[in-house]
Amino acid sequence: MSSTPITADSLDSIDFLRASFSAVQANIFIADPALTLIYANDRALETLRGLADQIETAFGVDVNEIVGASIHRFHKDKRRVERILKNPAALPHQAEFGFGNVSLQAKINAILGAGNEILGYIVNWEDVSIWKDEKARFNSMLEAIDKSQAVIEFQLDGTIVTANENFLKTVGYTLDEIKGRHHSLFVDEAFRQSHEYKEFWTKLGRGEF
Ligand code: HEM
Repeated sequence: MSSTPITADSLDSIDFLRASFSAVQANIFIADPALTLIYANDRALETLRGLADQIETAFGVDVNEIVGASIHRFHKDKRRVERILKNPAALPHQAEFGFGNVSLQAKINAILGAGNEILGYIVNWEDVSIWKDEKARFNSMLEAIDKSQAVIEFQLDGTIVTANENFLKTVGYTLDEIKGRHHSLFVDEAFRQSHEYKEFWTKLGRGEF
């Protein structure tokens, strides 16, 4: 490549656009209208290589043979995939799917020509497996807290947002009775009027524990 500095005219150069796609730190795939995968950028090839064993096991496909072949080798429900791709109103489309222990989040769009005709499809996806695992861990922690503790959630000003079963059992109210009301419901009149009580909410509102 020449070392001419980049200008707006560089965008007319296919070499420049190719180099740009290679540099993007996202997994990018392009398919033609017949749904042959014609391009995967460097990051996508790297991601595919990292998933080589899982792809081989799940689909019987060698990662080195993904570009140049139909995307449908990966699709159980080809009709659903085509229904989405052939319907402009369904695009852009976002989907999360998995194989083996991999979870991918895909953002799928059509590449349109000047007359809105479909020139191809572009997809960017991310491996979200680690977030899925983290989310599952986080959810089980929350579940454990929910089962073992009385929990109530307030807005910054002390308005009750929600409370769990343990809390409601302890105080003897239903959620409908306390939702949207103020925490002062649980304190006696003298404390409710006190400076100390007002200061308590002001401090919490500032993020002090
Ligand atoms: C430009 C390339 C591609 C396009 C346009 C495309 C398009 C789509 C669409 C529209 C769906 C349906 C989403 C939904 O059900 O909501 C889908 C699902 C899926 N895609 Fe792709 N895809 C492409 C490449 C790939 C590749 C390279 C892989 C695997 C390495 C893959 C694996 C899957 C899987 C596992 C599903 C789940 C649904 C099923 O099994 O039918 N796709 N894809």
